Amino acid sequence: MSLLFLCLLSFCKLSFQQFPRVCTSAETLIRKECCPAWKGDGSSCGELSGRGSCQDIFIIDAPHGPQFPFLGVDDRENWPIVFYNRTCQCNKSFMGFNCGDCRFGFFGINCTEQRLSIRKNVFDLTTTEKNQFLAYLNLAKYTISQDYQIATGTYAQMNNGSSPMFKDISIYDLFVWMHYYTSRDALLGQSSVWTDIDFAHEGPGFPTWHRAFMLLWENELRKMAHDDSFTIPYWDWRDSESCDVCTDEYMGGRHSTNPNLLSSASFFATWQVICTRPEEYNRREVLCDGVPEGPLQRNPGNQDRNRTPRLPISAEVEFCLNLMEYETPPYDKFANFSFRNTLEGFANPNDAISNTTQSGLHNALHIYMNGSMSGVGGSANDPVFILHHAFVDSIYEQWLRRHTPLQTIFPATNAPIGHNRDYYMVPFIPNYRNIDFFISTRDLGYDYDYLVESVPSSIQEIIAPYLQEAKQIWPWLLSAAVAGCLVTSLFNCIITQVCQKRKKQDSTSEEKQPLLNGHDEYQGITYQTAM
Ligand SMILES: *[C@@H]1O[C@H](CO)[C@@H](O)[C@H](O)[C@H]1NC(C)=O
Ligand SMILES: *[C@@H]1O[C@H](CO)[C@@H](O)[C@H](O)[C@H]1NC(C)=O
Ligand SMILES: *[C@@H]1O[C@H](CO)[C@@H](O)[C@H](O)[C@H]1NC(C)=O
Ligand SMILES: *[C@@H]1O[C@H](CO)[C@@H](O)[C@H](O)[C@H]1NC(C)=O
Ligand SMILES: *[C@@H]1O[C@H](CO)[C@@H](O)[C@H](O)[C@H]1NC(C)=O
Ligand SMILES: *[C@@H]1O[C@H](CO)[C@@H](O)[C@H](O)[C@H]1NC(C)=O
Ligand SMILES: *[C@@H]1O[C@H](CO)[C@@H](O)[C@H](O)[C@H]1NC(C)=O
Repeated sequence: MSLLFLCLLSFCKLSFQQFPRVCTSAETLIRKECCPAWKGDGSSCGELSGRGSCQDIFIIDAPHGPQFPFLGVDDRENWPIVFYNRTCQCNKSFMGFNCGDCRFGFFGINCTEQRLSIRKNVFDLTTTEKNQFLAYLNLAKYTISQDYQIATGTYAQMNNGSSPMFKDISIYDLFVWMHYYTSRDALLGQSSVWTDIDFAHEGPGFPTWHRAFMLLWENELRKMAHDDSFTIPYWDWRDSESCDVCTDEYMGGRHSTNPNLLSSASFFATWQVICTRPEEYNRREVLCDGVPEGPLQRNPGNQDRNRTPRLPISAEVEFCLNLMEYETPPYDKFANFSFRNTLEGFANPNDAISNTTQSGLHNALHIYMNGSMSGVGGSANDPVFILHHAFVDSIYEQWLRRHTPLQTIFPATNAPIGHNRDYYMVPFIPNYRNIDFFISTRDLGYDYDYLVESVPSSIQEIIAPYLQEAKQIWPWLLSAAVAGCLVTSLFNCIITQVCQKRKKQDSTSEEKQPLLNGHDEYQGITYQTAM
């Protein structure tokens, strides 16, 4: 049946993208409206059932930083406006390109059941859970996505939508391709490319984009397996001396004769990678089209030790978590004292000074794996990506809980293109803004096993124990008016105390100056982009 479907598709050359399959006909692209019917009631965006409705996309056109000095040359500018200017906007608990899905954390036919999912340490999974995880990955690798396709050409190459270029892709590879598409270079025509552009890395959107990405990935795996209780596990790599998930029981051991390949005892050894040849695509001025490009490569520990001496240690993560500022100018890989830049790995995890000759924290893992994981575009080919990014997301969550930032501290303007607060993240359809994921995981319906008991996530929860105390002294108070007054001042007092404590931490962690060595012996090494 699915074979027949595949044959049919390859004959018809129907057209779609990571865009919803139903929104990729020439007719839809020319009309620029992606408001598909929800199967449940046949109405556009499930409007008849109150799920949502078709709306104009409202772009907040805030200026971005100088890293990308062009206008109107890249399909990802003001995403998704080059392709669509109307999409479904879903009500409260609904989500998806046709409002057919439940919002993160909501379940059931009418999305009325609210549940918190817990992501676990991969080593704490039961054998059954672990085997299920591996089986889902393998199934996803070989199951064609029914909902999405990938674009194999730019909008211009599609004659502005009138000759669509889209292609089927497996559920797993859809995510590899999306990660490639958001981070790829800009094709400027006449074989010229612009490399200082990345809608998901090297900017404040790095944590938010990857949070959305992992949630969507998890969600597609759940739908594929009809298993709402599935969660992606994480690998806590702190203080590891080697890649301890690189065994045949988990993500695949080393091949017996070729150290760059996976052991034949792991089914990942038979996986083919896609989107790993950026230079070639740039030279030919094409997009990655999802064609297999050879086996997964990984040689953990064989990396350039001058760049990344070892896997990150706990003290480095702790230092990063204590940084007070989420982001600092110029909001890219040169940012000093930026939590984001230090977590991402372009700043030294001991002093938070940008140093692009080094790859720390998040980047360190990519470099350490010395293979498919080590190039930005193709890194998601290696399933270790999932375990790694789930853990990186948990560090981001710890920072949010520790510092309880206001939404307004997320840069609204002048971040690199794609990274401003209200930018719609590339290449997701439906539309999600960076700021939508600058909230606690609990508000997105999930948590990490090792954080469940940790620091409360909102002011209300911080204040709750004090309120409890206030209740106990209640009987001692003479009147409700006095009580009200006292509670108010107690509130103020707590808030001031918390703030003062914060400020104090701030000043103590406003670091040691960097030790600058005179000569830069790594200047010759081309910067190895690591997502
Ligand atoms: C959306 O795009 C279509 C097709 O180009 C155009 O006719 C329409 O005016 C646009 N709508 C808005 C709100 O920009
Ligand atoms: C859902 O959204 C539509 C349009 O935005 C609105 O007319 C409708 O009342 C909403 N339904 C519910 C149940 O909130
Ligand atoms: C879902 O909503 C529909 C329409 O409002 C209602 O008829 C149905 O009983 C609901 N189903 C459940 C399981 O809540
Ligand atoms: C596509 O649109 C651009 C901008 O509107 C226009 O300059 C160009 O000529 C169009 N290309 C084709 C093939 O229609
Ligand atoms: C970061 O700090 C280093 C060392 O103090 C300094 O050379 C560099 O100019 C700073 N970068 C920015 C963007 O402030
Ligand atoms: C692996 O590490 C070596 C240095 O030890 C480096 O030259 C090579 O480019 C790395 N390969 C990948 C794919 O990262
Ligand atoms: C970057 O790191 C290298 C290696 O530790 C060091 O030699 C160099 O001085 C650092 N540069 C800066 C600007 O801190």
